[in-house]
Amino acid sequence: MHKGVVNEKANPFDLFELTEYFKSVIDRNTSKGDSFSLGKIFQELREIKTEEEIALMRRSISITCKGFISMMQNIKPGMTEYQVQAYGEYEFKKYGAETEGYPSICGSRENSTILHYNTNRRTLNDSDLILLDMGAEYHGYSADVTRTIPVNGKFTADQKLIYELVLKAQNAGITACVAGNEFSSPHKAAVAVLSEGLVKLGIIKDPSDYDTYYMTGTSHYLGLDVHDVGTRGPLRSGTVITVEPGIYIAENSDCDPKWWNIGVRIEDDILITENGPVNLSAQAPKNVEEIELLHGQAAVMNK
Ligand code: GLY
Ligand code: MN
Ligand code: MN
Repeated sequence: MHKGVVNEKANPFDLFELTEYFKSVIDRNTSKGDSFSLGKIFQELREIKTEEEIALMRRSISITCKGFISMMQNIKPGMTEYQVQAYGEYEFKKYGAETEGYPSICGSRENSTILHYNTNRRTLNDSDLILLDMGAEYHGYSADVTRTIPVNGKFTADQKLIYELVLKAQNAGITACVAGNEFSSPHKAAVAVLSEGLVKLGIIKDPSDYDTYYMTGTSHYLGLDVHDVGTRGPLRSGTVITVEPGIYIAENSDCDPKWWNIGVRIEDDILITENGPVNLSAQAPKNVEEIELLHGQAAVMNK
């Protein structure tokens, strides 16, 4: 443990003392002090945020929401995916975020159905949807927000049916973000809504086939890393998790072609508290009417 570390006897705050201190904490908390146990300690430490950490996360998330509002205001047919991305990331930088928490995902039409797409080169057409999954990083803490919006400012009837279903599933997932609930509760709540809705729309016949179009989990911890570590035990006050259900219908899927190339995800960052869930990314609009209303409104930077 002390390899190469010199004990400067006159200095009680040298690296030697620090490693001694770490060792004593580890020995107190674990039977063997091995690296696996150290991992567990960090899971606990990073799962529950201090007040200071929550303040930083509120900042990174609110900066991110400003980016989303700007993208909703400025998007139009003929732009490229990377130009929409630029409107969002401009706001991140303008409000002091040092970087992005992960490479921005800006996938339009067929690209919205590709889970980790981040090429962001396609040109947007009228009546395309675009899925925007982006997060500013501020002082080390990342946001992780997704909105799916129509390029021309108006959802088609079919896009709206899928969108409203994902939104309903997401709201059910957020409602399940209650201290004491299992980590999997938001996922189970979202899947119940999605499977019933996909059957009603005739996209699947058997509710258990929901995973043809929703093949991911619903939540992960958020913090110093976009996919932060945690115990995955029951939800605890002071924890921030994402709730991010989606429906991804690739071309040539086994359903009516009218649904092909529709990919929708809605993702918010939820703080678990003793008084219920707090949506830290609520400033980014997600109701159909709000999104349609913002479209075309001149952004501040264009005035
Ligand atoms: N942006 C990565 C994720 O949503 O998990
Ligand atoms: Mn995301
Ligand atoms: Mn996420």
